Amino acid sequence: MCGILCLLSLSAARFECDGRIDGSLQRRGPNSSRKVTVTGTNSSYRCLFSAHLLHMRGLFTPQPVQDHAGNILMWNGEIFGGLPVMPEENDTGVACQRLSSCGTPLEVLSVLSAIQGPWGLVYYQRAGDFLWFGRDFFGRRSLLWKYEAEVLTLTSVAAQIFPPDESKWKEIPAVGVFRLDLKEAARSGSMNFEFFPWAHAGSNRTSLCSQTLQDSVPDGCSAVLNPAGLVLDAPVCPLNASLPESVNKTEIPSDSDLSATDRQDLLRSRENPAQVDRLIGVLSEAVKKRVQPSPFGPQNDSASNDSADVAVLFSGGLDSMILAALADRHIPAHQPIDLLNVAFEQQNKSEQKPKRDRRKSSEPGTERAQTFSPFDVPDRLSGRSGLRELQELNPERRWRFVEIDVTLEKLQEARKARICHLLHPLETVLDDSIGCAVWFAARGAGVEGHRPFSSSAKVILTGAGADEQLAGYSRHRERFKASGLEGLIQEVDMELGRISSRNLGRDDRVIGDHGKEARFPYLDEGVVGLLNSLPMWEKADLSLPRGVGEKLLLRLAARRLGLGQSAVLPKRAIQFGSRIAKMEDGRERASDRCSRLLPE
Ligand SMILES: *[C@@H]1O[C@H](CO)[C@@H](O)[C@H](O)[C@H]1NC(C)=O
Ligand SMILES: *[C@@H]1O[C@H](CO)[C@@H](O)[C@H](O)[C@H]1NC(C)=O
Ligand SMILES: *[C@@H]1O[C@H](CO)[C@@H](O)[C@H](O)[C@H]1NC(C)=O
Ligand SMILES: *[C@@H]1O[C@H](CO)[C@@H](O)[C@H](O)[C@H]1NC(C)=O
Ligand SMILES: *[C@@H]1O[C@H](CO)[C@@H](O)[C@H](O)[C@H]1NC(C)=O
Ligand SMILES: *[C@@H]1O[C@H](CO)[C@@H](O)[C@H](O)[C@H]1NC(C)=O
Ligand SMILES: *[C@@H]1O[C@H](CO)[C@@H](O)[C@H](O)[C@H]1NC(C)=O
Ligand SMILES: *[C@@H]1O[C@H](CO)[C@@H](O)[C@H](O)[C@H]1NC(C)=O
Ligand SMILES: *[C@@H]1O[C@H](CO)[C@@H](O)[C@H](O)[C@H]1NC(C)=O
Repeated sequence: MCGILCLLSLSAARFECDGRIDGSLQRRGPNSSRKVTVTGTNSSYRCLFSAHLLHMRGLFTPQPVQDHAGNILMWNGEIFGGLPVMPEENDTGVACQRLSSCGTPLEVLSVLSAIQGPWGLVYYQRAGDFLWFGRDFFGRRSLLWKYEAEVLTLTSVAAQIFPPDESKWKEIPAVGVFRLDLKEAARSGSMNFEFFPWAHAGSNRTSLCSQTLQDSVPDGCSAVLNPAGLVLDAPVCPLNASLPESVNKTEIPSDSDLSATDRQDLLRSRENPAQVDRLIGVLSEAVKKRVQPSPFGPQNDSASNDSADVAVLFSGGLDSMILAALADRHIPAHQPIDLLNVAFEQQNKSEQKPKRDRRKSSEPGTERAQTFSPFDVPDRLSGRSGLRELQELNPERRWRFVEIDVTLEKLQEARKARICHLLHPLETVLDDSIGCAVWFAARGAGVEGHRPFSSSAKVILTGAGADEQLAGYSRHRERFKASGLEGLIQEVDMELGRISSRNLGRDDRVIGDHGKEARFPYLDEGVVGLLNSLPMWEKADLSLPRGVGEKLLLRLAARRLGLGQSAVLPKRAIQFGSRIAKMEDGRERASDRCSRLLPE
């Protein structure tokens, strides 16, 4: 994980970097900071590259990396596949070497197309004076831009400004990469980007209309599709939109209130062993790549038995349980795994009806669950029962259930000091709820057992992408009811296309703020590739009740992995499960601009 920033000026305009942005970038990359400045011939342009690095494991390569030819790379990413990275190499070095050997745009695009893994990058190509930048196909790393006072800024994270309506920041859309011809820009004095879209093999160049493209660039700049029509190859196939020949009517009405046992029975009746095996295969591989120490210089110090390298954002729900169960397969047996569980204080105690666990158990955790606590929110209760399932699955593992309790006061303080800046330019009630919940969860400061505990794991696994692909949200159900399987397919297709701007940039900025790295196994190229190839009816069947029909295939996978109750838990969004949505004004709509995020 890194914090990267690039400033470009075509005039004598001074670079002024907002100190708050510099501070935020440094929090993302606390271990090394470096700056490089280049100027064009006759000072036609000036460009500052500033990178802050987080040291994950083993040796690391300070950035920006500059090769002997004068090319400069700022790489905020991970190569999990596609380009070979030998044990003695590092991915930044590999990306830089590959790019160094490129002359033409086609060559640059073929390197970027080959990389599997998340990235946001800025690359200065000395020969020809080109500035390249962009984000991976799904947009798993944040990159923002603005053009103001004759300076173009590209950065991992921004800061709020006052008054908020004058903010010029936008997220760089994860629809392709951009290239700026610096000599031409200096000559004309204008920022005109060439655009190279991601495209599926065999499809027409781009579905992006020129107006959408124009709307996504900063005010005062323009963008055009590159005249040669070159594209980046999408790393996954398009969504399978096929419809079944016959529709099997199911007798169970979807709103019937089934018990967990009924749901288990129903799930069992929908076994699909071949696809379940394939899904577990790709997911397991995706988790493995994301939890194993990099091959160069594994950490093997005496402390490593006691500190986890990997944590899971953990509600005890289906997505996080599967991640935890798969991480268990690939993390050395002696290492703990931190399960980060966040709860916001419930204000109205009379509303509380803590669920009792029906199973008899002598574990201390069970007793605590039944004593009254304002933090016994739904996700805390499901988290505790999820923990028990994981303990049964692997009793040898040290599962550390970290209870992260947040009071209203702590929430308001952190929002004002940090979170409002990290979310920017996103600003809805939903961004606020999810952003705050994820920020506290990823920080990992809470109570474990009965002792204060702070997770030091730098890798944070999140379930992002599971609901979008497997129809987990209630809006999927609404869409299915209104317009059938065809409507559902369109909804899923649309949601995967916008996940970068709705979720991923935000989550990357929020989690990165703790000097930790968000990793998204459900958005691994192999996983999305498989899920996209399957027909919708094998992934979800929304004629079945909640807790079974949504994410059907994933529930079957959970059963196969040996999980119990969690396999049939209905989806519960983090803002409701953690109760953050109830903490402040409960009457807002999720899409409203959040007044609490506005600067005073
Ligand atoms: C990286 O920075 C973090 C946070 O300051 C620190 O805990 C860690 O020890 C540093 N790692 C190295 C290798 O310097
Ligand atoms: C740089 O300036 C010199 C002297 O004014 C001029 O001869 C030369 O053509 C300029 N080079 C470029 C690339 O503009
Ligand atoms: C990373 O790779 C580059 C290019 O191969 C190399 O120059 C650099 O020394 C490497 N860094 C480390 C820490 O191995
Ligand atoms: C590409 O566009 C052409 C002309 O608009 C059209 O005839 C062709 O069917 C399209 N191909 C695909 C794969 O969409
Ligand atoms: C409907 O049932 C038949 C026979 O059990 C099965 O082969 C087919 O795949 C089912 N179709 C759907 C859409 O589930
Ligand atoms: C740690 O060192 C031991 C002994 O040298 C080795 O067997 C083990 O594989 C190492 N652990 C890791 C995670 O590399
Ligand atoms: C770490 O755990 C392993 C396996 O339980 C044990 O063999 C090793 O001695 C432990 N190392 C330390 C430093 O405690
Ligand atoms: C608390 O919740 C109860 C039950 O829903 C409700 O009757 C009561 O008015 C609430 N009190 C406040 C202060 O919101
Ligand atoms: C889409 O799913 C159908 C039904 O399983 C299958 O026959 C077809 O090959 C799939 N299409 C692609 C492109 O994978």
